[in-house]
Amino acid sequence: MKILVTGGSGFIGSHLCEALIDLDHEVVCLDNFLTGSRENTAHLRGRAGFSLVEGDVREPLESAAYDFIFHLASPASPADYAAMPVETLMINSMGCKHVLDLAVDVKAGLFISSTSEVYGKVMDGGNPCFLSEDTDRLMGSTSKRRWAYACSKALDEFLGLA
Ligand SMILES: NC(=O)c1ccc[n+]([C@@H]2O[C@H](COP(=O)([O-])OP(=O)(O)OC[C@H]3O[C@@H](n4cnc5c(N)ncnc54)[C@H](O)[C@@H]3O)[C@@H](O)[C@H]2O)c1
Repeated sequence: MKILVTGGSGFIGSHLCEALIDLDHEVVCLDNFLTGSRENTAHLRGRAGFSLVEGDVREPLESAAYDFIFHLASPASPADYAAMPVETLMINSMGCKHVLDLAVDVKAGLFISSTSEVYGKVMDGGNPCFLSEDTDRLMGSTSKRRWAYACSKALDEFLGLA
């Protein structure tokens, strides 16, 4: 299959790209290196089927005959999304919309990486609780950047489900 991995030169993406290449897929790794680095995928350069493209999901994406897209591009650590609130909000809204537009356009399957943060403070009490896809959510104040990440990831889920 021809597979696009957005954020493919990040922590999870680089391991995913390697696993997909090992399975003989053709992999296009798209990354703007906001939180990832070229070094993460340096070992894949020269491997058959692997290509690294510098690009930003906040811009409309070039169409290609992808069979599947893994959308991982997003600041992910608390330090990163606290330091980059505007980037986080725009990547997890406009960026996801561009990825969805591409997936619909080329009829590709799509995986969107969300986060357990979308459940909000449900888990903060310290008591074990079972979370399912339809568990109610409890968000904190808009003055706290953690919730901007959580809410923008939830928006991605709403967009994907729509
Ligand atoms: N690591 C975790 O524990 C965890 C937990 C839950 C969800 N996730 C989600 O998994 C995904 C990957 O997380 P990670 O830990 O590998 O993070 P990471 O920061 O290592 O990787 C994210 C990658 O996305 C790239 N990126 C960021 N903005 C981009 C943009 N506008 N255009 C193109 N590329 C862009 C970064 O440069 C980086 O390489 C994220 O969406 C994150 O929210 C991660």
